[in-house]
Amino acid sequence: MNITHSFQSQLIFGFTFLKNEDIISLIHPALAVAFVFPLIGIVTNFAWQTRQRRLAVAGGGKSKIPPIVGREHVQIGRWLTGSVVGVTLVALAYSVVFGFNGFIDKQEKGNLDNFQVIFVALMFVATIASLVLLYRAKPKLWRAIFATLSGMGLVILGSQDGVWRLSKEWYWSHYYLGIAVSLLMIFSLAIVEDIYKDRANRWRYVHIILNCFALLLFIGQGITGSRDLLEVPLSWQKPAIYKCNFNKQVCRVNNSDIFQDIPKIG
Ligand code: HEM
Ligand code: HEM
Repeated sequence: MNITHSFQSQLIFGFTFLKNEDIISLIHPALAVAFVFPLIGIVTNFAWQTRQRRLAVAGGGKSKIPPIVGREHVQIGRWLTGSVVGVTLVALAYSVVFGFNGFIDKQEKGNLDNFQVIFVALMFVATIASLVLLYRAKPKLWRAIFATLSGMGLVILGSQDGVWRLSKEWYWSHYYLGIAVSLLMIFSLAIVEDIYKDRANRWRYVHIILNCFALLLFIGQGITGSRDLLEVPLSWQKPAIYKCNFNKQVCRVNNSDIFQDIPKIG
């Protein structure tokens, strides 16, 4: 009997037993894996070539790398900023609505504050608007203002109820690393003009150091995101899973009567 049970729970179910809420929770990881990480690869490849070319030319030599690589790096880099901030906003939107103590939880408990819902919705609009304006801004002051506003938007949205922050273990928190890397992308977008104008290359070096760190954070996002996908239960399984004893790492599996009605699957 036990073997039958474990076989049943080992089967792969496709999308059959995912509720709408679970499918929506997949949007963020799917976008990150299918769009953001490929862009990171392209941007990094162009970054490497840009550097190799610049060093070769600065050393008085010639380079086989075409001069266009710098522009290509920035062009895809601009897409990267938008998509990283985009996936972060998608994740935060999911969490404030469906997360623990998020809008739906509060509505069920009857303590959902309409003002908070409107405030959060407006913060999403303001953050996206600030990012769009940052893309268009040319003068240094406006770039600084819109970069600060869009960054603040992310931080304020991230501090809402429902968002799982893992604050005690911030160094491997998917949330903190994600917000940090989003802010670094916003900063990169804001200083593009400065990198080009600065003959002493100071902004260029600031950019290289910060974004090599960003690369490490992106790898961290791949690891912590996969870990979280593994740990977050399906919506309808939560009541059972959260009754497990996490310290002893055991669950109540011996109440065999609840399995009796399960039809044969597969
Ligand atoms: C993973 C992310 C990124 C990494 C690792 C990275 C790294 C680099 C590196 C190594 C260079 C070449 C520096 C040199 O000449 O020695 C560079 C140049 C540059 N990067 Fe990035 N970068 C990233 C993302 C971005 C983003 C998102 C933007 C802007 C939206 C951006 C804008 C620029 C600009 C304007 C240059 C100068 C290009 C040129 O000389 O023509 N980068 N980056
Ligand atoms: C560029 C890469 C990524 C960024 C910037 C990013 C950012 C974020 C942020 C800010 C949150 C909100 C935290 C919360 O509400 O609890 C989040 C949640 C989440 N992300 Fe990502 N993420 C990235 C990649 C990934 C990947 C590759 C996966 C999985 C394969 C993933 C899986 C998740 C999951 C399961 C959650 C909800 C649970 C949690 O709180 O950790 N993410 N992400």
